[in-house]
Amino acid sequence: MDTRSVPTEPFDDQKPGTAGLRKKVAVFQQPNYLENFLQSIINAAGDFAGKTIVAGGDGRFHNREALNTLVRVAAGNGVGRVVVGKGGLLSTPAASNLVRVRDARGGFILTASHNPGGPDGDFGVKFNTETGGQASESLMDDVQSEAARIDSYRLADLPEIPLDTVGEHALDGIVVEVVDPVADYAAVMEKLFDFDRIAGLLRSDFRMCFDALHAVTGPYATDLLEKRLGAPEGTVANGTPKEDFGGGHPDPNPVDAAALVAMMGETDAPDFGAASDGDGDRNMILGRNFVVSPGDSLAVLAALATRVPGYADGLAGVARSMPTSRAVDRVAESLGIPCYETPTGWRFFCNLLEDGRIDLCGEESFGTSSSHTREKDGLWAVLFWLNLLAATGHTVEQIVQSHWRQFGRNVFSRHDYFVPDAARGRAVMEGLGASIGELAGQAFGEARVASADSFTYHDPVDGSESANQGYRVFLDDDSRIVYRLSGTGTSGATLRVYLERVVEDPADQQADSAALLAAVGVASRAIGRIEHHTGLGAPTGVI
Ligand code: G1P
Ligand code: ZN
Repeated sequence: MDTRSVPTEPFDDQKPGTAGLRKKVAVFQQPNYLENFLQSIINAAGDFAGKTIVAGGDGRFHNREALNTLVRVAAGNGVGRVVVGKGGLLSTPAASNLVRVRDARGGFILTASHNPGGPDGDFGVKFNTETGGQASESLMDDVQSEAARIDSYRLADLPEIPLDTVGEHALDGIVVEVVDPVADYAAVMEKLFDFDRIAGLLRSDFRMCFDALHAVTGPYATDLLEKRLGAPEGTVANGTPKEDFGGGHPDPNPVDAAALVAMMGETDAPDFGAASDGDGDRNMILGRNFVVSPGDSLAVLAALATRVPGYADGLAGVARSMPTSRAVDRVAESLGIPCYETPTGWRFFCNLLEDGRIDLCGEESFGTSSSHTREKDGLWAVLFWLNLLAATGHTVEQIVQSHWRQFGRNVFSRHDYFVPDAARGRAVMEGLGASIGELAGQAFGEARVASADSFTYHDPVDGSESANQGYRVFLDDDSRIVYRLSGTGTSGATLRVYLERVVEDPADQQADSAALLAAVGVASRAIGRIEHHTGLGAPTGVI
């Protein structure tokens, strides 16, 4: 094999965020940019010679070029085999699963998740270790250090990779194995869920719509829902992946999947609606005229888990990211199992999953998953809900309403403030940092602060500490406001403010979340002095 060492110079912006390195496509297209980052991962993680890696992406613009580069750099570093999804496609949860079932050294997932795609959109690279889970903070710090001092990378000269032909391709010194991206993933789903029962439901007069938003879950959902479970053709909408996701923003939330929400509000709406994101790890669940909040979804899955074959023996524990509503905490308490609170970012769940401490976990950003893989998993959540609907005979709304009656309702909303001048966004956090110790006892309109702190996570498995993970402000009535800065944006700063209020009385639970959270929202702006620092008197996005 013709392998070269190519001299290069570092770029100063290769700092991985909450979910890997995300940049504009044009940034990734610069000569040496991707090569440098991949080589930095290989240098930092080490031990790839003769090993197998998994590679695939969400199909966005630049996916194929980047996969070709990846295989060349991998071959240059002596990797023995690359397992890649046909067409270069692998959803994030399916890639994580493949790493595990193939005992691979790691997985390279090419995605910027729900960020827009296309030539002017975003691109990204995530590295998952041999557990299938996202690289730890310390490994990512090492990658960043490597990227800051890199002066050469290894490259093999290889022809174009035949990504569309399933089978083993022995290239010069490396085997590229192109696999059906769905097969191994579907096998896991068939083990976890009662497919006969779900098929019975889907073949009855029950109707559902899954919106793949022109992203990677199209082929997965079509295979699982329509082919294996017998849902009528057309159940999967927007099922063909497109390089620019059809011009949309493939994020399953009421703003970006507004068409699905509107359709679920019509008089002849289907019984069940769902959507996933660009790389297939997020999920949104809807009933007729009813959107399930992600924190509620996690709590419901935990409460009813034993109705599903894969979790029939009960759960070892659960976890949620810190800003996620505390609904699941109440379920854990009633089940007598531990509930862990982790910083934002899926990687923090991985140690808990690996150590057998938890079986379910989730984030407010429409991410939920379990011990079956090491990433969040959109279609898994959809199948879980379908299994619950089939097992209980209830509607989505009935299940959630009965959950609220039993456990109380944790009303939740996220206010995003996009600040083009990043320094002004950071100023909110700096202001909070300076005042956090003095907030307790102060009144802001109708709200009085009971306690406030900066969140530090102590990982119970490896003993590591992650400080500065956002500010938590608890009000007298147990409402809570959380502030943090987004780590996934590619320009400016996005301040995320998470609002939560607990409503115990079923008579008061029916109002819409905006009304129930109005006073907490006012307090959040006053406490953070958001307008003072950013000039924004209202959020730029509400989810
Ligand atoms: C966002 C979400 C976070 C999620 C991440 C990757 O990160 O808030 O929960 O883990 O995307 O999907 P953020 O932009 O807030 O840093
Ligand atoms: Zn995603």
